[in-house]
Amino acid sequence: MHVVLLGTAAGGGFPQWNCWCPPCRVARTTPARAHPRSQSSIAVSADGTRWFLCNASPDVRDQLRWLTARAPAPETMRMVPIEAVILTDAELDHTLGIVLLREARQLRVYATAGVATVLDADSRVLPTTRAFADVDLVHLPLDEAIPLVDRHGQPAGLTIEAFAVPGDPPRFASVDAPDQTIGLLIHDPATGGTLAFVPGSRELDLAVRARLARASLILYDGTCWTDDELRTLGISSFTTRQMGHQPIDGPGGSLAALRELTHARRVYTHINNSNPVLIEDSPERQAVVAAGLLVGADGAEFVV
Ligand code: MLT
Ligand code: MN
Ligand code: ZN
Repeated sequence: MHVVLLGTAAGGGFPQWNCWCPPCRVARTTPARAHPRSQSSIAVSADGTRWFLCNASPDVRDQLRWLTARAPAPETMRMVPIEAVILTDAELDHTLGIVLLREARQLRVYATAGVATVLDADSRVLPTTRAFADVDLVHLPLDEAIPLVDRHGQPAGLTIEAFAVPGDPPRFASVDAPDQTIGLLIHDPATGGTLAFVPGSRELDLAVRARLARASLILYDGTCWTDDELRTLGISSFTTRQMGHQPIDGPGGSLAALRELTHARRVYTHINNSNPVLIEDSPERQAVVAAGLLVGADGAEFVV
């Protein structure tokens, strides 16, 4: 299975348009010390030709160039370079790209019932997109592996299993359901490899750890370095955990837990622009690397 990190920043991207926090300043003045990043999204494929987009970010138009650049020019007038979109939550940074893919005319979206409800009734991403394109919504069950199928209904050589992770519903959600924040286990039976994709999670509890134990590549929530990062910077009144994310450092932080999972390659993604790990020569980056983890960068590719 090929895994391409299309975007590795949290909502707002890096640098964020209106932000002059320390990492955003470095990204503008010295991009070699803090590489710009687009918003959180990955693409996966068993065969390198049929790609599945996990989360559709507002940067999807630019991000899909990673996929079209590697495919031969089609003989048809139009060519949609993805088989389907798979969603881990209904947040704007993970779903606004669905509306932006409306030119597809036909789009398949895998979502849990809780995520689909928010897209339908609250953000109205689904009804808005459906004014332009047929959206085939495929129900993503929890704790059950289902085969991914391509645009022609053929098996694409991957199975996908969703699992609930601790999180919070989007601010605009009218209901709060446990399947509104999920992780994905994407398995390639041909290689035996498994990707765990968890871009949003408040805690590495025992249930999440049991899922990560099955993975050979783990992409995990790296939103903030500390729990009070945004409060200390005066950017927000919310802690990282209050926003549904687990800090990397500090008590109960993700780094201490992930450093023990040496069976898998481990990579942070969904990194907020305030996070000092984005600065290449920061002590926080050094600490992540010393623990055996990577800080995800746009365009990075893994074979699982
Ligand atoms: C989140 O990850 O908590 C959300 O994406 C935040 C946001 O986009 O405002
Ligand atoms: Mn987000
Ligand atoms: Zn910033």
